[in-house]
Amino acid sequence: MAYLKIIPLNCASRPNAYILCLIEGHVRVGILASWRGSNARAILDHVRLGVLRGVEPSVIIYTDEGAPVRKIAESYGIDAVFVRHRGVLRARRELELAEVLTSHGVDVVALAGYEYILSSHFIDRFKWKILNIHPSLLPFAGGKGMYGMRVHAEVYKAGVRVSGTTVHLVDESVDSGPIVDQWPVYIGDIYKMDLPYEQKLQILADRVLVYEHRLYSRVLQAVADGLLEVSVERVRVPRVAEEGGRIKYVEEELEVTRAVLRVSDSWLRDWRERQRAYVEHQLREWAESGKPMHLICPDGCVN
Ligand code: GRF
Repeated sequence: MAYLKIIPLNCASRPNAYILCLIEGHVRVGILASWRGSNARAILDHVRLGVLRGVEPSVIIYTDEGAPVRKIAESYGIDAVFVRHRGVLRARRELELAEVLTSHGVDVVALAGYEYILSSHFIDRFKWKILNIHPSLLPFAGGKGMYGMRVHAEVYKAGVRVSGTTVHLVDESVDSGPIVDQWPVYIGDIYKMDLPYEQKLQILADRVLVYEHRLYSRVLQAVADGLLEVSVERVRVPRVAEEGGRIKYVEEELEVTRAVLRVSDSWLRDWRERQRAYVEHQLREWAESGKPMHLICPDGCVN
């Protein structure tokens, strides 16, 4: 079994070729964001409040000149580096990305609203070290062109009662890399709201965003604590085929790459307790935003 584990130990003595070694208890994160940067800010807030421990955001790379995320980085004292993407060949801009990440000693790359598709060359260079956050429960409403409000429009169109957010590892597919963690969010009441479609979509997006901001840091903490394991598992799945008007099932054996966070119940209890400081801060901020909180968080978003 191919096996990879990100562990915060000096693991030179471990014979397994697939183990990645990070400096003990200290993970440097490089954040790639294109524009708004609210997920980047949530990570920085978790660090500032002492919720995230052993995680050091060392650089925020942004791709659009004038992106609000630049000011966010600066106000938290984090290096903000502009890597022009528009009109620049992918190979060229990725070379620059890699240089910035390497010169900042980055161990883990967190895509947070990065609106470009990375090449397999770049992904290979940072194999299983790139995370992405997506605003739906993947694999639903993911793939090429599925970003921003389009994701929520797809969710709303389907009429699903539960949406949510996913953190996954990035591979050469678009949004189909191994799922690391998900947070389900109930949206069933939104369809009943007597509001224009655009407003309902915005409520959906905001309701999910609240939990994006909580999930990404939880995953980063687990990664820093050495609890992310990536392995290859064989699965058998039914493939449906139609033959002469009859449905036939053929069993197919496949290899899937599985990512698992080996967090224990006590780890989760601990994290929840610690994250309360962030949740309080977050709810204060949202309350000040002038958004319809009774619709975004009908249950108060306390859990
Ligand atoms: C988020 O919804 C994230 O899930 C998606 O892009 C959006 C970025 O928002 N990948 P922000 O820039 O973090 O505010």
